[in-house]
Amino acid sequence: MHEPVLKNEVLHYLHPKPGFNVLDATIGGGGHSETILENILPGGFLLGLDQDFEALERTRVRLIRFSDHLDLIETNFRDLDLAILKYPTIKFDSILLDLGFSSDQVMSPSRGFSFRLDAPLDMRMSLKSELTAADLLNTLPEQDLADIIWKYGDEHRSRRFAKAIVEARRKQPFSTTLELAGLIEKSAGGRHGKIHPATKVFQALRIAVNDELGAIKEAIPKALAALKAKGRLAIITFHSLEDRIVKNLFKEKEKEGIIDIITRKVVMPSREECLRNPRARSAKLRVVERRLIES
Ligand SMILES: C[S@@+](CC[C@H](N)C(=O)[O-])C[C@H]1O[C@@H](n2cnc3c(N)ncnc32)[C@H](O)[C@@H]1O
Repeated sequence: MHEPVLKNEVLHYLHPKPGFNVLDATIGGGGHSETILENILPGGFLLGLDQDFEALERTRVRLIRFSDHLDLIETNFRDLDLAILKYPTIKFDSILLDLGFSSDQVMSPSRGFSFRLDAPLDMRMSLKSELTAADLLNTLPEQDLADIIWKYGDEHRSRRFAKAIVEARRKQPFSTTLELAGLIEKSAGGRHGKIHPATKVFQALRIAVNDELGAIKEAIPKALAALKAKGRLAIITFHSLEDRIVKNLFKEKEKEGIIDIITRKVVMPSREECLRNPRARSAKLRVVERRLIES
């Protein structure tokens, strides 16, 4: 089961109390939400969003004991303004975005997020979206593939890998994760060190398939608009591309007089947490508070 990252730190900064209205825009396995719900009762309410229907169904069961205080909506958080129209009188005390994918998604043998598991090259977080990783790999021009791998994977061998992909797909289109992982390993000249050479290519494709960076840029202003005065927004990121967007948008909104940045220094997990849960190693938490009156 997915282990929530920076759970104590999220609780500390969002300080959920009885009666709070909370929006968890990436409810995933419900780990953060479960602890938040324990803190907002009696009187509180939590709205959970996720674009992954399977995650929502599992979480609905996990959080069944809170069902009178909980609603779950399948949506991309870039459309959170539309989702919250269901509750037109609510302004939120706290909003959480815990970005990226969950361990449940990576470990799922059918979703294609991992280069370790043989699966169709899918990588869609929402099964309602149309484009899969295989579609991108099999159709994009070489230059566009190289750009994606460079921009979203920060991979200096992007051109070499894109060329190898285009040559390989002429013989046979890509359909599985292991085909891609094998080709990248060959093109990299084998494995050196602990990190698989396909790591960054997989990250880049996932970000492109799900337009992850575009969704964050759209969601942040909408989340800030959904907060009540003194309400807080906490965002956990897992790589520098996401973190840079969050950091810069928060600075911009602070300059506009909409929010105060609460975490002047980014919050990182403790050594103990990283040892217990290696996925936490790259996590960064930033928190802002909506001003009483915009200046
Ligand atoms: C890191 S997990 C969240 C884990 C959760 N906090 C927990 O404790 O179980 C990220 C979740 O966000 C979802 N997600 C990622 N991008 C999304 C988006 N743009 N809109 C909606 N959900 C998204 C993923 O499907 C995944 O379930």
